[in-house]
Amino acid sequence: MKTPTLPPSKLPEVGTTIFTTMSALASKHQALNVAQGFPDLATPTHLKEAVKKAIDEGYNQYAPMAGDSELRTWISEMYNQAHGAVYNADSEITIGAGASSLLFASIQALVLPGDEVIIVDPAYDLYAPAVHLAGGVIVRAAIPQPANLGGQGGAIDTDVIRNLISDNTKLVIINAPHNPTGACFTSKGLNALADVLFESNCFLLSDEVYGPMNHDGRPFLSAAGHPGLKNRTLVFGSFGKLLHATGWKIGWVAAPEEITRELRKIHQYDVFSTGAPIQRGLAQYLITDHASKHLRELGPIYEKKRDRLLKGLDGTAFIFSPAEGGYFQILDYSKLDSRGDIEVAREWTIKHGIATIPISPFRQPGSQEAKEEKRLRICFAKGDSTIDEAIKKLRAIDTYYKAR
Ligand SMILES: Cc1ncc(COP(=O)(O)O)c(C=O)c1O
Repeated sequence: MKTPTLPPSKLPEVGTTIFTTMSALASKHQALNVAQGFPDLATPTHLKEAVKKAIDEGYNQYAPMAGDSELRTWISEMYNQAHGAVYNADSEITIGAGASSLLFASIQALVLPGDEVIIVDPAYDLYAPAVHLAGGVIVRAAIPQPANLGGQGGAIDTDVIRNLISDNTKLVIINAPHNPTGACFTSKGLNALADVLFESNCFLLSDEVYGPMNHDGRPFLSAAGHPGLKNRTLVFGSFGKLLHATGWKIGWVAAPEEITRELRKIHQYDVFSTGAPIQRGLAQYLITDHASKHLRELGPIYEKKRDRLLKGLDGTAFIFSPAEGGYFQILDYSKLDSRGDIEVAREWTIKHGIATIPISPFRQPGSQEAKEEKRLRICFAKGDSTIDEAIKKLRAIDTYYKAR
């Protein structure tokens, strides 16, 4: 009898994600979990009611492959109002199982074996494996450790990208508000990026799932709103992030028709369609005043939480620069401990009862930048009592090190 043998792994370097690892460690040691990026804020009541109603009304069979048409219309109008960007809801907007499924489908659709893909590093962990599976070559645009990504070009370091673009570059992947650093787009950064991309044939993938959560009066900028970039850009959003409902996994991509046609070929076979009653409930909810208020208040709510956290850390040895957007704050602990971030994050979970996310897993494995990381990511999309508990634990860590 013959037995099947597993082929060599297609993703030999990929193990369990750092998010799952740290959450499991937090639960094993009953540590406070400010690691994984999910809000513990309540999903809006009117939205939950709209979804329940959609179930009762019978929206329980497959949604259209491209997504609920009213929901696509809302997305299209949102881009028009917020960014002056016109997308055809039928042929240029696609809804999938979270932004993740569409990021994956888009990368498979655009990248051919041997194509180079530039990824700003540190980067959300989905991009590199998706490029690898498409046979692409990953080129990391590494931002050095001490520099805050929120510096000059915001979430994009155009000089680094310019030097890495070659005739083989097919795609540049950017993300803002950035996970994990919280850096936002600036108009200057987007203009500079446009100048660089105009000299190339490459597409731009702009992951904007934390889109409207900009702090300190920063404008809600999108690559879609840049008149020169829009034609070559795919822009991604996530209702899970916008509506405190990450478990629902509904996201979208807006892209020119010819790109959309190709990415839908993948989407229709890997996901096809997703969560029909949730999409219908979202479409019904999003046109209400409740939803407008929710979306208007999203940035300010998180800004307040960020400020609560940072005020609580006043006088400690943590080095930080306030997150410009999103709901993650980076803390540099190098004045307290000289060890690498994975070791420190593990030890603090077990010994000091607080689970965070080290930054090095967002970087190229084994790179100098990864080895030198001495920063941890805190998710502040939490109730005030959780934030206060995090402050207490971080201050205790500060005292512990200073007393040694
Ligand atoms: C930068 C970034 N992109 C995409 C996603 C995935 O979004 P979704 O949950 O809609 O798949 C996340 C989730 O954490 C993220 O941080």
